[in-house]
Amino acid sequence: MSDSKARLSIGDTILELDKLEATVGQPAIDIRRLRADAGHVTFDPGFANTANARSEITYINGAAGELRHRGYQIEDLAINCSFLEVAYLLLYGKLPNRTELEAWELDISTHTLLNEEMRSFFDAFPRRAHPMAVLSSATNAISTFYDVYRRPTRKQEIDSGARTLIAKMPTVAAWAFKKSIGEPYVYPDNNLDYVENFLHMMFTRPVEDVPIDPAVVKALNVLLILHADHGQNCSTATVRAVGSSRANMFTSVAAGMGALWGPLHGGANQSVIEMLQVIHDDPDATIDSTIARAKDKDDDFRLMGFGHRVYSNYDPRARVLKSYAEDVLDRMETSDPLLEIARELEAAALADDYFASRKLYPNVDFYSGIIFRALGFPERMFTVLFAIGRIPGWIANWMEMNSDPDTRIMRPRQLYVGETARDFVPLDQR
Ligand code: ACO
Repeated sequence: MSDSKARLSIGDTILELDKLEATVGQPAIDIRRLRADAGHVTFDPGFANTANARSEITYINGAAGELRHRGYQIEDLAINCSFLEVAYLLLYGKLPNRTELEAWELDISTHTLLNEEMRSFFDAFPRRAHPMAVLSSATNAISTFYDVYRRPTRKQEIDSGARTLIAKMPTVAAWAFKKSIGEPYVYPDNNLDYVENFLHMMFTRPVEDVPIDPAVVKALNVLLILHADHGQNCSTATVRAVGSSRANMFTSVAAGMGALWGPLHGGANQSVIEMLQVIHDDPDATIDSTIARAKDKDDDFRLMGFGHRVYSNYDPRARVLKSYAEDVLDRMETSDPLLEIARELEAAALADDYFASRKLYPNVDFYSGIIFRALGFPERMFTVLFAIGRIPGWIANWMEMNSDPDTRIMRPRQLYVGETARDFVPLDQR
């Protein structure tokens, strides 16, 4: 048998399956004919062993703790680029030159305004509405103002849909926040850059002009880059699943936001701070008792911000964030007792055999919340910030899926373990 084939024997049937080579990383075994040729399906809950697509966007080496977008190391991008530069890279496969970047920044900055009718949309939500729910609903709602985005087919329509989503997300997020604290919405200012504009809409109040701190702009820029894409994770797979029915980009991304919100995914950044706060406030909740709870199989509590489906090593984004958290607090001349607790908790977990044997390390969410707090964001906005960062990754995947001739509507099989045929029992005999 050649090296390009894998052999699978099921009873008397021997199947030779093609191996599909990756440019780097694990090859795949092509099982697309398995059901038809051998009458079996594969069983892989959570798709941990299943490649859902061919992708050229992001490469992760979980064992080595490596993350690259379009071939570039995340560390290089985080230090040297603006968020919009990385967004361009994800969407179009190359770093923009100066002319391209300026045109892209101008295009984004001149599409930040929401249709004025959207004000009533925000007004309709209760004040206590979680901003993630508002963000996801608004993402869908924006498309209702543009008929062309309902079924974009031409490249130009898809590109302008991408630009619209990236441009308007900070406005939506800031308005969701303003609504939740009962302050008037602040309109975007096209003279500001992407991150400055977001901070302006978040923190400006009618009674005071809050100056924008360049240290905050820099830190938020890095944070958005670190969240920009991460392969076929839960929310991106959701975007692809919804988009595979040819649903439009806005609806697909809105669904991805729902997936991101869960505490086992992007919602973990809020849960980490809540966990650290409990350790800080509650004398009964110590580092040791928190670790003990996380290890207790009768308790569904998990150490938030620890563990990852793909990394069996330190998440490279967490490594950048850990040193950054310290730096940001220093530059802002502030301190946070939760940072010290986080460091102690991390050290205790890494020294514990339970975490070491399962290769559980801090993930991106472990330190990001501490920085978001230092920058002045309330906890309810943490996952929203993650979502703004992830928009380019979701869109890039939606675009890639749309142009891939191998894309099929998402339709997994199941291993049926329910009742076999039963005789119907009329209502009065049950
Ligand atoms: N705390 C305690 N135990 C854990 C943790 C944790 N954070 N994570 C995994 N484990 C344990 C599991 O209980 C399991 O133990 P067992 O082998 O004795 O049954 C083992 O480690 C493997 O866990 P799985 O659930 O199979 O790991 P999986 O890869 O499916 O889960 C996940 C990954 C969901 C991220 C998990 O590690 C977790 O729940 N972490 C906490 C939430 C979190 O931080 N999420 C953010 C992830 S990053 C992101 O989405 C942006």
